[in-house]
Amino acid sequence: MFMGLQGAWSFSSYHEKWTLLVLSLLCFSALWWEAKSDTSSDDVNALRALLDSWGQKAVSTLQWTGNNPCGSRRWTGISCDDSSPQRVISLELPGLGLVGDLPSDISLLSELATLDLSYNNLTGSIPSQIGQLAHLSALYLQFNYFNGKIPPEIGQLKNLSTLSLNGNFLTGGIPNEIGLLENLYWLDLAQNQLSGPLPYSSDEKSDVNAGLDNLTKAGHFHLNNNGFSGAIPVSICHSGMSLVHLILDSNRLTGFIPGELGQCDNLLIMKLNHNQLQGAVPDEIGQLINITELQLNDNQLVGPLPNLSNLTNLGLLELSNNLIDEDFPPWMSSLESLTDLSMNSSSIKGQIPPSFFALPALSAVKLANNHINGTLDISRATHQLLLVSMEKNNIELVTAGTYSEVLRLQGNPVCDKENLLSEKVCSDDSSLSTPTSYGTNTCSNTCPSGYQVNPAQCTCAVPYQGILTYRAPTFLSLTNDSIVPVLAAALAERLSVEQKQVVIPSAAFNAQNQLLVVIAIFPSGTAIRWDRDDVLRMATILGKDGVSPPGFGPPMFQQYSADYTVQVSTEGSGLSTGAKIGIIAGSAALVLIVLTVICFACLQKRRADKAVELSKPFASWGAGGAESGSMPKLKGARFFPYAELKKATNNFSESNEIGSGGYGKVYRGILSSGEQVAIKRAQGNSMQGASEFKTEIELLSRVHHKNVVGLVGFCIEQGEQMLVYEYMAGGSLRDCLTGRSGVKLEWRRRLMIALGSARGITYLHELVTPPIIHRDIKSTNILLDEKKIAKVGDFGLSKIGPGEGSGKQHVSTQVKGTLGYLDPEYYISQQLTEKSDVYSYGVVLLELLTARAPIEHGKYVVKEVKTAIDRGGLSALRSMLDPRLRDEELLELNSFVRIALSCVEDAASSRPSMGEVVKQLEELVGHDYPESGSSNIDIPLSPTVQVTLPPLLGPDDFSRVFLGI
Ligand SMILES: *[C@@H]1O[C@H](CO)[C@@H](O)[C@H](O)[C@H]1NC(C)=O
Ligand SMILES: *[C@@H]1O[C@H](CO)[C@@H](O)[C@H](O)[C@H]1NC(C)=O
Ligand SMILES: *[C@@H]1O[C@H](CO)[C@@H](O)[C@H](O)[C@H]1NC(C)=O
Ligand SMILES: *[C@@H]1O[C@H](CO)[C@@H](O)[C@H](O)[C@H]1NC(C)=O
Repeated sequence: MFMGLQGAWSFSSYHEKWTLLVLSLLCFSALWWEAKSDTSSDDVNALRALLDSWGQKAVSTLQWTGNNPCGSRRWTGISCDDSSPQRVISLELPGLGLVGDLPSDISLLSELATLDLSYNNLTGSIPSQIGQLAHLSALYLQFNYFNGKIPPEIGQLKNLSTLSLNGNFLTGGIPNEIGLLENLYWLDLAQNQLSGPLPYSSDEKSDVNAGLDNLTKAGHFHLNNNGFSGAIPVSICHSGMSLVHLILDSNRLTGFIPGELGQCDNLLIMKLNHNQLQGAVPDEIGQLINITELQLNDNQLVGPLPNLSNLTNLGLLELSNNLIDEDFPPWMSSLESLTDLSMNSSSIKGQIPPSFFALPALSAVKLANNHINGTLDISRATHQLLLVSMEKNNIELVTAGTYSEVLRLQGNPVCDKENLLSEKVCSDDSSLSTPTSYGTNTCSNTCPSGYQVNPAQCTCAVPYQGILTYRAPTFLSLTNDSIVPVLAAALAERLSVEQKQVVIPSAAFNAQNQLLVVIAIFPSGTAIRWDRDDVLRMATILGKDGVSPPGFGPPMFQQYSADYTVQVSTEGSGLSTGAKIGIIAGSAALVLIVLTVICFACLQKRRADKAVELSKPFASWGAGGAESGSMPKLKGARFFPYAELKKATNNFSESNEIGSGGYGKVYRGILSSGEQVAIKRAQGNSMQGASEFKTEIELLSRVHHKNVVGLVGFCIEQGEQMLVYEYMAGGSLRDCLTGRSGVKLEWRRRLMIALGSARGITYLHELVTPPIIHRDIKSTNILLDEKKIAKVGDFGLSKIGPGEGSGKQHVSTQVKGTLGYLDPEYYISQQLTEKSDVYSYGVVLLELLTARAPIEHGKYVVKEVKTAIDRGGLSALRSMLDPRLRDEELLELNSFVRIALSCVEDAASSRPSMGEVVKQLEELVGHDYPESGSSNIDIPLSPTVQVTLPPLLGPDDFSRVFLGI
């Protein structure tokens, strides 16, 4: 080591030595200060224990390095206080797909106020030591795989205000100790496998005289979808409490609804549906004057119903599937705010007063399968009313007035009378609950598995996805078209994304009247997937307050996937204030010179490490599997181990070689799955920098079109860079035209190839965002598959086009391309536009006509064709045509030549766009011409694909080629 150091010192001048020395001293001081952790060692140990238990995935995801979590390079997901040593006060890592359990060491984080590990894959039980987190005020563990019981020690969390354990596999009962959480505001235990009675203070089930009734600060009890049994405790909501949401649905609760619930005068939402409750609805419910939503459906309740006319805020009343057995209550007509009434299958009798339908907010009335009789008069309905569902009643006459929205009367006597009602009204059609979608996909492209089409721009990306469940919306159908867009707008605003990034593939109600909304938030612009920090941010927002436009009620979010990238921090070792103080102290300490030398060595090593790090840009693709290390993980483009490709190509044997060029060789390979592929293996100085290689893979993997050669995968291992493409059995267009591949191309086929490749290029120019300019369109880069469908390949030189809104119309670049195909204007101006590809494409069209290479025997095909036509029109051109076309009738020749010549106009502005070329060719070819024409021409099984890449054009070449044109 010291040998190396001497070397390092020896070439420094005297002056430089001093500079280095001082710098090293500073460096040492800084390191010394940084090494001395500012974070409490208990906290450091606790965090390390968590990381240990979460395994390798967490190591690469979280990038927790160093020993000072609170330091200048703050560890992901934590925040700290200002004490000395610093303490961790919050740990928030939702939605990262963490696996493992929650170790008891969590208790060492004794200053923790917020713990959010929601939407991960954590298992095991919730450790009882969690009770030692005396400062904890918010605990979010929702939607993991936690099992076991809720530890009674949770009652020690005197400061806890939020407890979200919903969406786990917790069993057992709610411990009475829950009642000790005197500051609890939010209690969500929904969607677990909890059972037993709901605890209350005098139930004598425990030594602790406490229960839900002691939670006087609670606003929310969300206990739905469990297996709770027994009666609803009379004290669950008393006048000393301030409950706004009492959600107990989908349990096995029995007994009567306690009249004491009438004391819950803050209540806005009460859901007791889907239980086994009996008896009549108590009169006291009529006192809940602020309630907006009352759901008592799917119980065994009997009539008569209490007078609820004072509930002037009630929007939704759901009483279906009970045994009410009384006349339609007249007081219903005074529920000023009612939007949705649902009383299907409840033995309701009599007639509905016409004044009921005149309620100003009424939107949906569902009274199917009852004994309603007489005349149904909905003539006074307002335009708010969208659905009247009265199937299977005894209605004999209908007075609809101007009502023209959905009316369903199938199974009523009125439907037996001929010509009285339209078929629709009487047909048995329950298509009303079909899911609604927002921002649906109208793109024609498809994406590889793991990706989804981003409908805003028809690209493939990995959205942030999940399902929002609204447990108590005040509407019961999606009849109103604006509901879904309103939600999309609210999501966009809350998540600070553009509205076009928000896609709602489906929204529907389930049997429990919960509104389930699938959401997909696409990354913006060209990004393929979200970054870890964005996932953290969105998971935090959606998991905590959520997004709830008026009327939607409390949201519950469940994240689907945890697919994201991890950006490696690019900050240097950012010196903290502490470090600067250290520098002053340290610079006095000349005695530390020896240590300084060592420090200098460390510094060199660090720098080397950093260099190594930089040479591994794949690190930032993150989330790699254990064995693939930090490889890019694009599901569309698989990673292939070197060994697999070696095997596939029979050790890169010569007999498998199908092409070669300046960059290396192309091999045909057969994967273990039997799939044929073409493997492009970079060689020597054509190896790209790893980051360029990564760019190429990223570029290729987001391009999917039937006229573009698809990337199957890649390999970056053992110093190799290989790209694995789909195998193009037909070889290159060049080889077909020269006859080298044995494939003959009749005229119609050539037109189809022209059209196919034009479509491929148009896709790159117009449908990929940002657009891709190919820069190397030529006949060797147009490949044919076994059906002779043309596909554009080889993006080695591709350049991202000018982005929309960048205000730029071109990209300035070093001129690249292939001799003979190069756009003269691009060469002169060095400004690359899509029109440069149009020019090259025009040259390919001339090749299709003449089968000549663009430059043959010193003659430039563009110039030759132009000259011939100038001299003698089409007939003069005939002598230049590919001899193999001579026997064919070339009906479309005139137009084809015109298109070709317009593409090779000298001035880029005179050339058509590729999209225009496609339109012209489509007209020419006729739309009925089959894409994959049934050709009787034999295609050899293993043609040789000669993919040659002539040297790039230099200025001298240019004068040679273009002079005299
Ligand atoms: C999480 O667990 C679920 C169910 O076991 C599984 O389908 C999913 O792939 C897991 N995700 C991760 C990131 O481990
Ligand atoms: C819970 O409430 C009951 C009834 O008000 C009361 O007797 C009991 O002392 C309370 N328990 C605690 C721990 O405060
Ligand atoms: C009902 O709501 C109003 C307005 O939101 C509020 O002022 C009032 O206190 C509430 N009534 C009860 C009994 O909580
Ligand atoms: C409605 O409220 C008024 C005023 O508080 C009260 O007098 C009346 O009895 C209530 N009606 C019902 C049916 O509860």
